[in-house]
Amino acid sequence: MGISVSPITPDFVAEIGDVDLSRPLAPDDLAAVKQAFWTYAVLIFPEQRLSAEQHLDFARQFGPLEAPSNVGKSGKKLRLRPELADVSNLDHEGSILARENFLTAFQMGNRLWHTDASFRRTPSLCSLLYAQVVPPIGGHTEFADQRAAYDALPEALRRQIQGRVAEHSIFISRGRMGLTEFDPEDLRRLPPVPQALVRTIPQTGRKSLYVAAHAGRIFGMPEAEGRALIDRLIAHATRREFVYTHRWRERDLVMWDNRCTLHRGTAFDDARFKRDLQRATVSDVANSCEQEGIPLPDTRQAG
Ligand code: OGA
Ligand code: MN
Repeated sequence: MGISVSPITPDFVAEIGDVDLSRPLAPDDLAAVKQAFWTYAVLIFPEQRLSAEQHLDFARQFGPLEAPSNVGKSGKKLRLRPELADVSNLDHEGSILARENFLTAFQMGNRLWHTDASFRRTPSLCSLLYAQVVPPIGGHTEFADQRAAYDALPEALRRQIQGRVAEHSIFISRGRMGLTEFDPEDLRRLPPVPQALVRTIPQTGRKSLYVAAHAGRIFGMPEAEGRALIDRLIAHATRREFVYTHRWRERDLVMWDNRCTLHRGTAFDDARFKRDLQRATVSDVANSCEQEGIPLPDTRQAG
C-alpha cells in the first residue's frame, strides 16, 4: 500500500499517513510525498519515531542540509547535533532557559511572521520540524499560504512589487524585537542579502509573495516607504483566510515550503513548560533574485 494523503485544507495543508520516515522510502512513496509537497506546502506526518539521524536522512531527500545559524551560541555547548536547529526553551543540559537569557529573547523572533533563512544568500527550500516535547497549552505554529496571498493581491500592488528586491537580515527581525546588541562575529557571518519580493515556484509555476520579518528596506525606494510596504504586505499575507494553525502532538513531523509560506510560533508559558522541537533545514538551489532572473542589487548601497 502506498502513502495516504488527507487534506486539511483544499490546497495548503495535508496529513500524510501510511508512511514510516525512520526507514528509507520506496521510490514511489518518495515521489508521492514530493508531489503532495508541491501541491500543498505544509505536510504533517503524525506518529513518527525518529532519531536525529533518521530525521536528517529524510530531510536530505529534498536537498543539501543547511547548518543552523546558532546566533549567540559561538563557543557555547549545543544540546543537539550541529545539523539540527534547537527550537526549544532548554539549555544544553535540558533545563528551562531563564527568561532573561539572550537565547530566549533571540528565539522570541520566531513569534514574528517569517520564512526560514531568507537572511541567507541562498535561502531555505524547506524546513522539517519534529516535536519531542510539547507544552499542554499554547506553543502552536501558524502557517500562511503566500501563493494564495499573492493571488489575492490587488492588480496594482502586484504590478508595483513585480521585479522588486528587499534586503533581508536576521538582525532586522531581532531589531524588531528590540534586540540591538549582537556578537560582532555573528554580524560578520550573516550580512544582509537581497531577495525577490515575488517568486515563482518552479514545480507548479505558481507565484508567491516572499516577505518576512527579516526584510527591511526595498531597493530603489526610500527606506521608510520600503519598510511600510513590507509591513503592509505581511499584514495582507497573514490574513486569517491564508492561515493554518498547527497544534502540535508529540512525534509530529511537520515540513513546510519556505519559498511560499510564512510561519510563526505562538506564545506559551515558557517559564513553566518544556517545549522541545528540532528542525532540519534544507537549502534552496539559488538566491531568489537569481531564480527570478532579477539582477542582484549591491547590498552595500542605500536606497
Ligand atoms: C522554526 C520556527 C516556530 C515554532 O522552527 O523555524 O520558526 O513554533 N518555529 O517553534
Ligand atoms: Mn522559523
